[in-house]
This record gives sequence, C-alpha cells and structure tokens, in this order.
Amino acid sequence: MAESRNEVTIVDHRSGQEQKLAIDKGAIRAVELGKLKDPQTGQGLLTYDPALLNTAACKSAITYIDGDQGILMYRGYPIEQLAEQSHFMEVAYLLLEGELPSQTQLQAWENEVTYHTMIHENVKKFMDGFLYDAHPMGILVSTTAALSTFYKDAKKIDDAPSRHLQKVRLIGKMITMAGYSYRHSMGLHYILPDNELSYAGNLLNMMYRMAEPKYTPNPVLEKALDLLFVLHADHEQNASTNVMRCVGSSRIDPFTATSAAAATLYGPLHGGANEAVLVMLKEIGTKDKIPAFLKSVVAGEGKLMGFGHRVYKNYDPRAKIIKKVAHEVFQVTGKNPLLDIALELERIALEDEYFVKRKLYPNVDFYSGLIYQAMGFPVEMFPVLFAIGRTVGWLAQWEEMLLDPEQKIARPRQIYTGAGKRDYVPLKKRG
Ligand code: SDX
Repeated sequence: MAESRNEVTIVDHRSGQEQKLAIDKGAIRAVELGKLKDPQTGQGLLTYDPALLNTAACKSAITYIDGDQGILMYRGYPIEQLAEQSHFMEVAYLLLEGELPSQTQLQAWENEVTYHTMIHENVKKFMDGFLYDAHPMGILVSTTAALSTFYKDAKKIDDAPSRHLQKVRLIGKMITMAGYSYRHSMGLHYILPDNELSYAGNLLNMMYRMAEPKYTPNPVLEKALDLLFVLHADHEQNASTNVMRCVGSSRIDPFTATSAAAATLYGPLHGGANEAVLVMLKEIGTKDKIPAFLKSVVAGEGKLMGFGHRVYKNYDPRAKIIKKVAHEVFQVTGKNPLLDIALELERIALEDEYFVKRKLYPNVDFYSGLIYQAMGFPVEMFPVLFAIGRTVGWLAQWEEMLLDPEQKIARPRQIYTGAGKRDYVPLKKRG
C-alpha cells in the first residue's frame, strides 16, 4: 500500500517491530512510541528532550511565532498591526477571548479591570514587612501568591464566571501591586489607583504621584508603556508560560499559578534580561570597549544579554518596534546615553561571524530596558513591567490548558542514570 504523506514508519531493530506513526500538524504523538518495547525489559520507547527543545507540550490557538521569518501574531493579528492600531486593554481582551471586542464589549471590559485595581488593605501590612531594598519582583511574586488567600473563590477553576472574575482581579491588581512595591522600595506612601486613568497611566500614577491632587501622565510615556505591555503580553510556550501551564495543571488557583510564572520570569535568562542588558551596557561603558567585550563573549566568558532567542533565528519583531518607540520616548525624556553603545554593539555583533553563524539577533529585551530607564523606572522594576504585560498571556494560556480535554497534570518521564539496587550500610560500617 502507498505510504501516506502524513505518516512515519519506525523500525525498532532491537525487536524488528515496525510502527507507523501519524503526523498531525507536523508532529507525532510521543506516547505512540511507547508501543515499541525493549525486548529485554519490556519498557516502551521514550523521547529524550532536555529543556523541551523539540517537543510540543500542548496545542494552542493564542500566539503564533515563526522564528525564521521573525513573525509574531496574537490570535492571527500581526504584532506590527496591533502595536500600531490597538492598545493593551483591547489586546488583553483579544488574547483572553479570542476575538477583538466590539465597542460595548471593550468598554465593559475596561470598566471591569479598572474596578478591580484596588487591593485589600492588609496587603499593605504584608508589603511593609519587606526590607526597604527588597527587589520589587520578589515582592510581586510573593504578594501575588498571598492574594490567593484573599480570594478563596479562586479555587473554583471549573466555574467560568469565577475564572473570569479571577482573571480580571489579577490583571487589575498587577499594576497596583507593582506600584505599591515601587513606593515601598522608595520609602514613599502608597498611592491608590485613579480609575479615571488608563491602565498604563494608572501604574504611572501609583508610582510617581507625589503631593499633587491629581496625577497627569505624560501622554507619550503613557502610550509607550501601553505599547510595551502589548509587546510583552504573550509569546507561545516561553519558560514562564510553560510553568503557568504546568503548575496550573495541578488545578491550583490562578493566583498561585501566576506567582510561579512570575518567579520563572524573574530569571536573568528570561524576564530579567533587560535588567542584565543595562548592567552589561554600563560595564562596557564606552563604544571603544565594545570589540574587547564581544571578544570575551566569543571566548565564552559571558553572554551578550538581550541577544539570541530559542525560537527567533531572525530579528525579534518586538525589538524592531521597541527600537522605533525609543526615539519617541527620548524626545520627551532626553536620549539615554547608553543607546549609542547599544546601537554600536548591535551593529558590530550583527557583522560578527560568531553571532551570524548562531543566528543571534536582538530580542525584546535588548532595547526595552533603555526605554524603561529613560522613563525613570529603576532597573529592578523592569521584570515587574514585563510581568504586568505577560499576566494576560499567562491567564489566556492557563484557561486554554484547563479547557483542553487532552491536558492532565503534567508529569514528564526521565532516564534514570543513578546507582543500581544496593543495601543500606549502617553508619558504624561506613568508611
Ligand atoms: C525572553 O522564550 C521566549 O519567548 C522568551 C521571551 C518571551 O517573550 O517570553 O522572548 C523573553 O526571555 C527573551 C530572551 C532574554 N534573554 C536574554 O537576552 C539572555 C541572553 N540570551 C541567551 O541566554 C539565549 O539566547 C537564550 C536563553 C535566550 C536562548 O538560549 P537557547 O535557545 O538555549 O540557545 P543556546 O543557549 O543553546 O545557544 C546556542 C548557542 C550557544 O553557543 P554554542 O554552544 O553553540 O557555541 O548560541 C550561544 C550559546 O552559547 N548563545 C549566545 C547567546 N545566546 C546564545 N552567546 C552569546 N550571547 C548570547 N546572548
């Protein structure tokens, strides 16, 4: 019979077994390999894929990335069009609901999120327990988990209206927790949300309002921050989203799962990279030191932070958009002196064989830190800003996982490389 195009045939030479595997959307079902048994042990064949480099852990309709082409789409809409024509609250609705909202739906959605920006007064006492110089990401991770104790109904994850309420609460309260964590680190009193402001404007209000009766955000900075939330909203199965799905698969509430995702984002290889980019640019100091720095990277003495990506083997489309916005922001804030070093570093790296051969291009973090710093955000707040945007993606992916009939509690297999069976040796008899 002619072999079907969408099929592979695997011959297991240990047993002579032959297994036909269907190819569905470019993938085979790993569990089917289990039918190929080791004639000695009877164990089914496993796939070994450390860090899941070539494993689809789920099916998702939320975000699409083509790493070779540098394409990013949210629910089919190119990120460039959303960046140009949409805004974060609308993009949040799109990612969570799957369609762009009507005017009425958008208005209702924005009102709901705005209505849920307040947090319980006890959270302030909780936050006050942190040292003055506690990293705001550490505060955000723990406070998000703590919020699960305030909203006991969040455990009703099979109830759609409850899920919706928790999503609205988390999105609304992220900016307030971020604002409070910043004020705590500055030794300043907490500022309540001003629900007449936009989502991004309200964060700026809760961070920067001082004695004035009403805070008025700079419209250019407010728009730039909103756009940065859009660009960070979702990104397929990145490390923190993978954790959101994995932790969520144990059917815990979304506050606790979001806290785990935020903890993952905190890492310097993920959401902590834009903070690391600024540290790197400061260490380089001047343009004439760039060749020596790149030489040390090529020698394996460190990484060019903000470069490289697991999926993008082309320019991260978000980095292109951020680079453009940077110029608009710098017209208001004054140019970040580190920009010239970043631009020269990018220029030289993109001509360097080491980076070209490995298809290492600037990613979303290479320029975002420069904007955040120019806008007056302390470096420690950068991953917090990333988490605010990505909370929408984490929640969309969490709900998609919960509603996927093929998903169950995540529990990967392993290849055991430890000691064989041996008997216990009493302490007296040990060497
Ligand atoms: C984000 O997954 C996502 O989608 C993440 C994200 C999102 O929106 O959620 O896009 C956000 O996390 C962006 C990435 C931010 N991190 C950084 O900028 C840190 C610097 N980048 C690298 O650490 C690295 O590029 C990663 C972690 C981003 C990706 O690493 P991979 O896919 O595991 O690639 P790798 O480490 O296997 O690298 C392949 C080769 C290696 O060299 P060789 O062993 O082949 O000689 O490229 C080298 C690496 O050493 N390499 C780098 C490098 N990145 C990869 N060398 C120098 N500088 C770098 N930045």
